[in-house]
Amino acid sequence: MTNEEKSWVELTHKLILEKFKNESSGHDFWHVVRVVGLAQHLHEKEGGDLFMILMTAWLHDIADWKFHQGDLHKGPAEAHRWMSDLAIPENQIDAICHTIKNLSYKGAQVQQETLSLEGKIVQDADRLDAMGAIGIARTFAYGGHVGSAMYEPSRMPTLHHDAQAYVQDRSHTINHFYEKLLLLKDRMHTATARQLAEVRHQRLQTFLQNFMEEWVFAVATA
Ligand code: ADP
Ligand code: NI
Repeated sequence: MTNEEKSWVELTHKLILEKFKNESSGHDFWHVVRVVGLAQHLHEKEGGDLFMILMTAWLHDIADWKFHQGDLHKGPAEAHRWMSDLAIPENQIDAICHTIKNLSYKGAQVQQETLSLEGKIVQDADRLDAMGAIGIARTFAYGGHVGSAMYEPSRMPTLHHDAQAYVQDRSHTINHFYEKLLLLKDRMHTATARQLAEVRHQRLQTFLQNFMEEWVFAVATA
């Protein structure tokens, strides 16, 4: 990275720290920090342009479409404005915004746009943080934030065909494992992420087994 690129990354780090200070939905500042760290790790093994990877990772959740009435443009628009103010070259801004717009999970059956290597690395990093022990914690934090029940045995998971249906679905949180988390392992782009995902996937499965084992007492009294 050039010194100028380093300073842009540093200023963006500060911006995100400021913006996310009071967030509790599982989209907190530390989620972004972990994604930056994971993306850096994936970059070391998989290559790609480090500046593009770090900028995308810092900015990827700047305005989450799920919390803005399903508006897919708010995040990229905010990122665009910020990077224009920094005077980052337009072609780099456009590439970063394209990734931010197409990064997040929008339902099991929703077609995924093709991403650059840098985009793939950040998407792998973002998805790894939705898996494993931290993924479990984030999922229940999110479920609590939007008022979902933890579990409701009669309600089966849905493999959504469209993004709006996915975001509006107020299913219980255990369903989210079947609607997203358990599907991520087979959707990793890079070999390095695939390896990390294996371990985290196993943790999701172990958690679900333990959860259902303890749930049997509810079944016995229902
Ligand atoms: P990501 O940052 O991986 O794109 P999202 O933006 O989709 O993740 O969501 C943030 C966190 O909340 C993730 O851990 C995700 O799995 C979780 N989450 C998203 N939708 C739901 C839901 N309907 N119920 C429970 N957790 C959810
Ligand atoms: Ni994220």
